[in-house]
Amino acid sequence: MNRKRVGILISGRGSNMMSLIAACERPDFPAEIAVVVSNRPEAEGLERAHAAGIKTMAIDHKQFASRVPFEMKLHQALLDHGVELICNAGFMRMLTGGFVDRWRDRQLNVHPSLLPALPGLDTHARAIDQGLLIHGCTVHFMRLEMDTGPIVAQAAISVLPTDTAETLAARVLEQEHLIYPHALWLVAGGHVRIEHERAIIASPVNHGPALISPPLRALR
Ligand code: GAR
Repeated sequence: MNRKRVGILISGRGSNMMSLIAACERPDFPAEIAVVVSNRPEAEGLERAHAAGIKTMAIDHKQFASRVPFEMKLHQALLDHGVELICNAGFMRMLTGGFVDRWRDRQLNVHPSLLPALPGLDTHARAIDQGLLIHGCTVHFMRLEMDTGPIVAQAAISVLPTDTAETLAARVLEQEHLIYPHALWLVAGGHVRIEHERAIIASPVNHGPALISPPLRALR
């Protein structure tokens, strides 16, 4: 099988990265991890990737005068490792148009909300503040504008009246760990094409029950 070579970009603990690494360990998975790169040398995820036997690199953005030279170094590092597809996994550095365009339709991102709702930071606290009853996460192709781009997979969960930002984040994160490997499987396996800025997925349609929050009670 011709496995797509994936570069993972991280900035922190790397739990989504670990879910991608675990998926790629399956012999039938259509992707392999070529390298993990962090813009923060102290990122916990670098240790975790190294312990899993994955090649790691730190490219400290603070060592560069501006974004463009940092991104040139990052781009070259990815090419040096034969990367064909990038997965941003908690990579918290804005990328310029030059980089995003070079990797157009070859760079995925996971975001902790049901995009296009709640782009940006603090999504869980904002979901609670805005009284959302359904929240979730999204895997999408990267575009220049932050947290936009064709959507490959989403998962939705109920927001409970007792939720704090932390409890909600933990339940959303569980779903991120499911949909990110799933989305990578779809994209690396050639099951996704982009048409008019929509990701068209050649996979069974979900006819499962709707998520209704709060749950329906029998009406008598
Ligand atoms: C994840 O929740 C991811 O969705 C989020 O950062 C966290 C990283 O956790 N990303 C963004 O907010 C990007 N806009 P992880 O390092 O344990 O994967």
